[in-house]
Formats: sequence, C-alpha cells, structure tokens
Amino acid sequence: MTQPFATVALTAENIADCADLYLGVFNAPPWNDGWEHAAVVERLAAFMAFPAARAMALLVDEVPVAMVLGWKERWVNGWTFHIKEMCVAGRLQRQGAGAILIRALEDVLRDEGVVSVNLQTLEEAPAFGFYEGLGYRKGRVVMLGKLL
Ligand SMILES: CC(C)(COP(=O)(O)OP(=O)(O)OC[C@H]1O[C@@H](n2cnc3c(N)ncnc32)[C@H](O)[C@@H]1OP(=O)(O)O)[C@@H](O)C(=O)NCCC(=O)NCCS
Repeated sequence: MTQPFATVALTAENIADCADLYLGVFNAPPWNDGWEHAAVVERLAAFMAFPAARAMALLVDEVPVAMVLGWKERWVNGWTFHIKEMCVAGRLQRQGAGAILIRALEDVLRDEGVVSVNLQTLEEAPAFGFYEGLGYRKGRVVMLGKLL
C-alpha cells in the first residue's frame, strides 16, 4: 500500500482526539463493547498518565485513522513494551495500515532500547492472525479474573 498517512506521537494532551476512532472500532464487530465517549476518554487518558506510556497514530487529513498505545515495563533483561490498545478505522482495515503502525512503533521502541513487545488478545479474534503475521507468538501466561 502507498502510505497516505502522517505518523504522529500521541501524548496525554492529544490522546482524546482518538476517542471517536476507538469507540467506532470497538463498538463494532467482533468486539461490540458498547463504549460511551466519556468512558473512552477516561480510559485512554488514564493509560497516557503512565510515566513510560508511548502511543502513536496514523492521520489522514489530520484525523486519526489508526492508533496504538501501551507502556514500557522494566524486566530482568531490559525494558519490554506492553501494547494495551491497537485499532484501525473500519473502512481502512485490511489495507496495511495496522502493519505500518506496529512497525513504526517497533522502530521507535528499538531506538529507545526496548528489547521485546507483548500484548493480550483473544485467540479466536481476527487480530490474533494479524499479530502472528508480524512475528508475535503465543506465550504461556494466562489472564485470571474475578468479579467483585
Ligand atoms: C486487527 C487490526 C489492528 C489489524 O489492522 P489492519 O490494518 O486491518 O491490518 P493489516 O491490513 O495491516 O493486515 C496485515 C496482515 O494481518 C493479517 N490480518 C489483518 N486483519 C486480519 C483479519 N481480520 N483476519 C485475518 N488476518 C488478518 C493479514 O495477514 C494481513 O495481511 P493481508 O491483508 O495481506 O492478508 C484491525 O483490523 C483492527 O483494528 N481490528 C479491530 C480492533 C482490534 O481487533 N484491535 C486489536 C485488539 S487486540
């Protein structure tokens, strides 16, 4: 794909600009989350308050059409990066934007000395194949939860 995108760093100051993108993607199949705008802003802003947060977006005509967000974590052998959120606007999915954005993020992280990247997703989600195609592999860690 040719690259009509501008790649920008997201910060605590501009992260709310991605709320409509996030809401549109995750309120659609296969996630159908049911987000409201204010809750999305609260979620994204809270992540960006992490000291080692990093986020990037692809823009078309200055509007975010893809975003990735996460944070660096110190591990035994160096810094790793946890991708917490990743999405591409529905109309642009399967056109290479997601791969462009992940690779751009990886380049930034590599330059910062980050040695690995991890994330959680559902094994049955379409995103699983997306990440596998980019070299991500299933690990042994499972997520546990409990209702309070
Ligand atoms: C998953 C997502 C981030 C992928 O971004 P994208 O721009 O659509 O993906 P790309 O076009 O860069 O795809 C690169 C490759 O990943 C794989 N891939 C991407 N989407 C896929 C899908 N739905 N099913 C199967 N393989 C897929 C393909 O191998 C694809 O290459 P190809 O199109 O040449 O076959 C995007 O589709 C998305 O935002 N989905 C909804 C939100 C989501 O699931 N986010 C991740 C939550 S963990």
